[in-house]
Amino acid sequence: VYHTPESTPEGQIPDCAVVIDVLRATTTIATALSAGAESVRAFSDINLLLTESESLSSDKRLRLGERGGKKVESCDMGNSPLDCTPQVVKDKQLFISTTNGTRALQRVQDANVVVTGAMINLGAVVDFLAGKNPENVWLVGSGWEGGYSLEDTVCAGAIASRLIEDYNIEMIGNDEVISAIALYQQWQKDLVKLFTFASHGQRLLRLNLVDDLKYCAQTNIIDTLPIQQQKGSLLFKAQ
Ligand code: MLT
Repeated sequence: VYHTPESTPEGQIPDCAVVIDVLRATTTIATALSAGAESVRAFSDINLLLTESESLSSDKRLRLGERGGKKVESCDMGNSPLDCTPQVVKDKQLFISTTNGTRALQRVQDANVVVTGAMINLGAVVDFLAGKNPENVWLVGSGWEGGYSLEDTVCAGAIASRLIEDYNIEMIGNDEVISAIALYQQWQKDLVKLFTFASHGQRLLRLNLVDDLKYCAQTNIIDTLPIQQQKGSLLFKAQ
């Protein structure tokens, strides 16, 4: 478990990586693909997002841009999963750039396997990892500008905890794994409350996004697993 992309071991590439940004990027990505979006491609640079999506007609593409929790002017929408309804996203190619989630995706984009995890698709992530039983798995939280985030760590704890419970997988983990599991076991029944304590949860509440926070705190409500299509592409489709 790594709480932020910055805390991952320098110069190392994992066999398999789960990128977690519960509030809200990986919740949004899973929701959009579950609602019928054709694909979601992540960009750290908004201008690159705009130029790369230029060639697509506007009825085939959607540009999602968020910085500091707010929508980026030049994009069609911010990063709210609640905006990713079938009516809005079905059969469209989504282009997304967010404050931290995109950076976490970039950090592991050259891994053999990259999937995105959130509370809403917990089961899909756990079942996938158990099925693959990879050599080493990085659960990478996005955090906030290099800082620890409660919501991403509790999700990493949920994944690790379910792997032990459901698949009896030996957790020869680092100390962060054990503490993430403890955080999940303490708060699994009241994630909304935990998220209201989180610094990014507070930021979303200040932006009147309490419904986003409640949606992101739901456990295992969809079975969609976003998986990177080609190494380094940052292009995700539903598994
Ligand atoms: C992030 O990338 O930090 C989050 O997704 C920001 C947000 O959408 O609130």
